[in-house]
Amino acid sequence: MAIPAVIAHGGAGPGPSRQENLEVAINKASEILVAGGNAIDAAVQACMILEDDPVFNAGTGSVMRTDGSVLTDASIQTSDGKIGFVIAMEDTPNPILVAADLLNEEINGLTSEGARMWADNNGHIKRKVIGVPPKGQIGDTNKQITGDTVGVITRDTTGMIVVATSTGGCSFRPPGRVGDVPLPGSGFWAEEGLAVAATGIGEAITRALLSYKVFEKIKVGKYSLEESMNWGINKLISSKDSVGLIALGPSGPGLGVSNTDMPWATWEQESSE
Ligand code: GLY
Repeated sequence: MAIPAVIAHGGAGPGPSRQENLEVAINKASEILVAGGNAIDAAVQACMILEDDPVFNAGTGSVMRTDGSVLTDASIQTSDGKIGFVIAMEDTPNPILVAADLLNEEINGLTSEGARMWADNNGHIKRKVIGVPPKGQIGDTNKQITGDTVGVITRDTTGMIVVATSTGGCSFRPPGRVGDVPLPGSGFWAEEGLAVAATGIGEAITRALLSYKVFEKIKVGKYSLEESMNWGINKLISSKDSVGLIALGPSGPGLGVSNTDMPWATWEQESSE
């Protein structure tokens, strides 16, 4: 029997002031896992807490695109081979719920109006997301480009590992832009008792296929989680791009590594709990 565990992050860049908010999600996932719940439920419920908290760039707190629109992305993958992702969804403060519904469908991913139509037909009620203006102005050289995301990885007693990620996207990006969060291998990867999730500037993460490359490095077995994640951040990503990673394996707690401030927290059940 595997020991339940969870790790979550609140985005690369926002700093430790969001640590307490993040821990609410960790507590929710750990409660579900201690009660015998599965890793999918724990990851989805924890991700929803982060989507509903306006301090994070996901769901309710999503940053506006350059045209003022608010479009949300989310993804989920299980270590036993299921995947679901949604891209650029309007009026969807909890895109992780739509992504999670795709785990048991023939299709893996949906985008834009089609994703919203599918959500309407599957009981996901439309809800306007006001969003948050980005810090700075377009054309201003001091504008703050951040690619915050929220991410959760859970492990249940069966040893199943699930990764869930959600974002409003990088600031100062146009409405049709696709970041790393909904792209398998870029923003997330889970397989065979191991999962990795990324946060930060989506273009840099996507160019590096960061989550899959780090996953592969860990799987080879020669390098620890920490060595592999540091390799990913330092060798595959320019120091100009704020990027962070979390990972969780078949045993032990998870680990977070970033080249900037990234609130993260992990929990593993104690044998007496
Ligand atoms: N990492 C979030 C994004 O770039 O969209």
